[in-house]
Amino acid sequence: MKIAVVGTGYVGLVTGVCLAEVNHDVICIDTDLQKIKNMEQGISPIYEPGLEELMVKNINKGNLKFTNIHVEGFKNAEVIIIAVGTPQMPDGSANLQYIEAVAKSIAEYVTKDVIVVTKSTVPVGTNDFVRQVILDNLKCDVNVKVASNPEFLREGSAIVDTFQGDRIVIGTQDEETASILEMMYEPFGLPIFKTDIYSSEMIKYASNAFLATKISFINEVSNICEKLGANVEDVANGMGFDNRIGRAFLNAGIGYGGSCFPKDTHALVQIAGGVHHDFELLKSVIEVNNKQQRLLVDKIKARFENPEGKTVAMLGLAFKPNTDDMREAASSVLARELIQLGMKVIAYDPIAIENAKTQLPQQVIYANSSEEALKQSDFALIVTEWDEFKQMDLGKLQEWLTEPILFDGRNCFTLEQAKNAGIEYHSMGRPSIMLENKVSIN
Ligand code: UDX
Repeated sequence: MKIAVVGTGYVGLVTGVCLAEVNHDVICIDTDLQKIKNMEQGISPIYEPGLEELMVKNINKGNLKFTNIHVEGFKNAEVIIIAVGTPQMPDGSANLQYIEAVAKSIAEYVTKDVIVVTKSTVPVGTNDFVRQVILDNLKCDVNVKVASNPEFLREGSAIVDTFQGDRIVIGTQDEETASILEMMYEPFGLPIFKTDIYSSEMIKYASNAFLATKISFINEVSNICEKLGANVEDVANGMGFDNRIGRAFLNAGIGYGGSCFPKDTHALVQIAGGVHHDFELLKSVIEVNNKQQRLLVDKIKARFENPEGKTVAMLGLAFKPNTDDMREAASSVLARELIQLGMKVIAYDPIAIENAKTQLPQQVIYANSSEEALKQSDFALIVTEWDEFKQMDLGKLQEWLTEPILFDGRNCFTLEQAKNAGIEYHSMGRPSIMLENKVSIN
């Protein structure tokens, strides 16, 4: 099948590359010429494990191409996938200007019947808008069908998620469109759920909002566990045995970040407001997350009478491991607050430092390794659960830090490991380990 994908962010590029991998003829379109030139060389604009290898393979096979010229991209397309960004507006709603621009250019350049698929996360009703913009601006007498097809991939495991996802959702009431899209996805061998356009659009927001709710829920439970001396990890494990609940997304930590959950939860509150529904539960989820992102600061203030003048090693900056994405990362909130408290922050992340420099306060100092950061610091924080931190020899902290104290925002270690390493250890929703190996209840 001949497929054009507009937008080469996480969703667009990964989708395009994976469709090429299953032998479709794919052309990816982006307005950024430099990005196109790089991608033609197999250089990905985003960090995503395994992506560049698949790009190179499919470029060489001849079924993955790139262009910045829309007319060229749309020339032969049977399916056009819209995967441009829908950034958050100041009021929390989704900005649809890029979607509208793509719809206009489709209207201008298509010369044959085509199915337009919206993969970008868009408010309910947007596909109607896309169809209308196309119809209003169409230059040729062709038949354009519009369908919704939300994306559920996660950054850092985007390729695996595409090939081994839980479901593919197709929103259209046109049987022929549905069967062509089913054919397009057939090689992935995944369950396909077909529904109407509005429900399909809603599935994406409801899914992300539900996952965010699970995280804020366990974080609240975690905060209560800390006060009671319970262990949130055991609580989550015990809950997870219940199939109705499931263990996934019950890891307590310093809240969710990234390009989707914060944006989509705000957007759903807006969407609900648009139909005069106050989505109180989701507003609380957002509020809990805002507090959770700065919880390590509260812990530091409770631990040190006066943290001013102390140096802290901040391990991990990206919003989660295996990505260099800094969008809505807790590290940003934390660094700002720690510096306001008069502390010196020495930060390290395996790959997100360049992106972090554009977001974190200027006063932050960057190290080339966790060892380098730790050796110059009084105590340490773990903000992102990168494997290299999880595999760290905790005993070394006694040697490297002035005070062997670790605040672990992602529960990277068992309490046993921390005890054996002879360090003071404060984690999320679990009893703290004090230096005399006494278990203290916060
Ligand atoms: C998410 C959705 O999972 C994906 O389906 C959607 O398409 C895009 O949004 P992503 O943002 O890439 O994907 O990351 P994800 O792995 O879902 O994590 C999001 C945030 O939640 C991270 O900050 C992560 O640290 C946090 N999280 C996740 C928790 O705090 N606890 C958990 O148990 C799980």
